[in-house]
Amino acid sequence: MTKPRVLITRNIFPEAIKAIEQVAEVDLWTDEMPPSREVLLEKSKGIDGILCLLTDKIDGEFMDNAGPQLKVISQIAVGYNNIDIAEATKRGIPVGYTPDVLTHATADFAFTLLMAAARLVIPGHISAHDGSWKTWHPLHFLGQDIYGSKIGIVGMGRIGFEMAKRSTGFDMDILYYDVNRREDLEKKLKMTHVGMDELLTQSDFVSIHVDLNPTTQHMFSTEQFKQMKNSSVIINAARGPVIDHMALYEALKNKEIAGAGLDVTDPEPIPNDHPLLTLDNCLIVPHIASATIETRRAMSNLAAANLINGLKGTSLSTCVNPEVDN
Ligand code: GLV
Repeated sequence: MTKPRVLITRNIFPEAIKAIEQVAEVDLWTDEMPPSREVLLEKSKGIDGILCLLTDKIDGEFMDNAGPQLKVISQIAVGYNNIDIAEATKRGIPVGYTPDVLTHATADFAFTLLMAAARLVIPGHISAHDGSWKTWHPLHFLGQDIYGSKIGIVGMGRIGFEMAKRSTGFDMDILYYDVNRREDLEKKLKMTHVGMDELLTQSDFVSIHVDLNPTTQHMFSTEQFKQMKNSSVIINAARGPVIDHMALYEALKNKEIAGAGLDVTDPEPIPNDHPLLTLDNCLIVPHIASATIETRRAMSNLAAANLINGLKGTSLSTCVNPEVDN
């Protein structure tokens, strides 16, 4: 019997690739950069499954081009805004993703950004290296207190909740906004569900943990930054387009807010000449919140398992559209 054909759009952990090779004929895209649209479409003709990344656009055109034999789409990420889920569901194709295994690493990193942005770690590091550190000065490098401050968490899902747990270690007062009040989680942790206005005006730190969808696109723009305290710091380890970047630039430049820590930008990578890169109160890193060895290994293995299950016609461990799962 001929093996099913799959496309894997980037190198992942070798054990995950080996597991897939046991059951499928693998076309592995080994370049560091994503395949172009043309190459992606060309390589996906006639495939039975794809293991894809958040940089690959998987839409109706992709699915039609792949053909009606396409059985499974397995994304190695918890976010899946690059995939047209409605189109996949319409065609009966289950879409796998990798929640849970990256929750702790991502929340750890969001808290890392919070601390680094609040305490000016990067400007301090630069000053220690470039010779501008001349003396200990009572008024240099003044950041924001973390201990005992108030955090506003936007999006109380798995990662938002872990961010809240980490905040308790610093005796922070926790506010959260979510379209659904999470009384189940409020029983586990002292935190208060509030509206966005209250969250924005009260919080010392605002940390974003929502997925990207039409209602969260530019959820943070001029109006929201104006509501925030001048001393507040915004953290985004979710998706770049949740923040209107030009509005963020204006708010940071005009000191309407004190700082930002961004794991994600819009677009990615952020262009070299983007005005945000001229500000020393905007910390930006290249979308690495889940990048630990163990977490990326677990993501690789879970994405591989979802792909293999989809090829076999059995149910995926973590499926975005369970209504069409096997
Ligand atoms: C990374 O951003 C992910 O969605 O897993």
